[in-house]
Formats: sequence, structure tokens, C-alpha cells
Amino acid sequence: MIAIAIDGPGGAGKSTMARKVAKELGFIYVDTGALYRAIGLYMVRKGIATTDAEAVASHLLEIEVSLAFRGDEQRVLLCGEDVSDAIRAPEISLAASNVSAVPKVREFLFGLQQDMARKNNVVMDGRDIGTVVLPDAQVKIFLTASPEERAARRYQELLGKGQAADFTQVLEELKIRDYNDSHRAIAPLVPAQDAVLVDSTGLAPEQTIARLLDLIRQKLA
Ligand code: DC
Repeated sequence: MIAIAIDGPGGAGKSTMARKVAKELGFIYVDTGALYRAIGLYMVRKGIATTDAEAVASHLLEIEVSLAFRGDEQRVLLCGEDVSDAIRAPEISLAASNVSAVPKVREFLFGLQQDMARKNNVVMDGRDIGTVVLPDAQVKIFLTASPEERAARRYQELLGKGQAADFTQVLEELKIRDYNDSHRAIAPLVPAQDAVLVDSTGLAPEQTIARLLDLIRQKLA
């Protein structure tokens, strides 16, 4: 099986790029952030503080998270309910970042992610795919962009969905999440030693995708 790992901070365009790469290569696209988001959503709905690691860990056994594929679209199921849209609410981003720092949560999701890659050719995006989940991935990419550019993209995305948004707030939240994700004790956001760094600041989406496909084809050749 072939695995392509795409890691990087929030808003770097990982999911858009990973989805396109997967489509181009005929691989399955696995968005691992969605799994953390589903757990964050569960805790928020239950009124559990997502910063309370013990409380979060103690509720994990009640949860069943799985991925389903409809055509080339990934859906996330939380205890059988399709929560693919609910997990995109801005308040769930921070909840996901908080629960992702809990070691038991990472353990809980580890097998599911590895299993997907054992059975399929995958393009998997996240924070620790190249470092922890799929250390033997044939291609590892660390996709990033400046915080301002990432915040601007998020902001436009929210406006596009008809949601009210404040740029300064989007930027602040993104910086908090960057800090959380890269400073946690377990599986922090850091490029794998053998990852290729791609900075998409100032690049149009088509330029980034062309760059990634070039890189991937070179590596797989
Ligand atoms: O990629 P995303 O914004 O949907 O991810 C939501 C949160 O999940 C992110 O802030 C950190 C966490 N995450 C992680 O810790 N490891 C991954 N492989 C993917 C996401």
C-alpha cells in the first residue's frame, strides 16, 4: 500500500490539497482532524470541559467514531450519527485541539488511522501523520503558510458559508491553536525529519497543487 502524509498547521489548505491529490491518484483521502473534531464535539455536547484531560479520557469508552466513504467524500460518524457538518463549527476547532492533547484520545484514534492505511492507498492529513501515525509513509509533506494568510483563508471560507466572522478573532484563535498543537507533550505538530516543506504563502491553490503533485510523482517514480 502507498501512503502520502500531509501534515501542517490549521488553515494551511491541507484538506483541500489532500483531497485533490487523492482524487488525482485514485487514493482514499483521510482527514484525521475530523476524528479529533468528532471527539471534541462529543465532549462539548456532554458539557465536559475539553481542557479536563481526566474527564475527557473517562468518557472515551462511550464513544464510537468511524469513517464512511460516499464516493470520494469522507463522512465522520459519531456513535452512528453523521456529524460531518457539525464538527466544522468554529467552536469545535478549539475543542478538537484541546482533546487532541490528551494521550488517551490519541491512543484511541491511532489504530483506526493505521487500519485505514493498512487496507487502502491513502492520502492522510493531520499533525502527526508523518511523525507518529505513518512513519513509513512513502511521501511526507509539511504544508504551511503564514498565520495571516491562513487566517484570511479561514475568514473567507466562513463568509462563503454565510457565517458571521471577525478576522482578528479568526487570527487569534488560529494562533492559540498553533501554539496548543505544537507545544503539547505528545505527538506535537512538527515536520518529520524526512518531510518536504511546502510554504503556500502567496501561492494560488492551483500552484500549490501542481507543486505537490510534482513532488509526489518524483518520490513515487
Ligand atoms: O485539521 P483540523 O483543523 O481539522 O484538526 C483539528 C484539531 O485536531 C487540531 O487543532 C489538532 C488536532 N489534530 C491532531 O492533533 N492530530 C491530527 N493528526 C489531526 C488533528
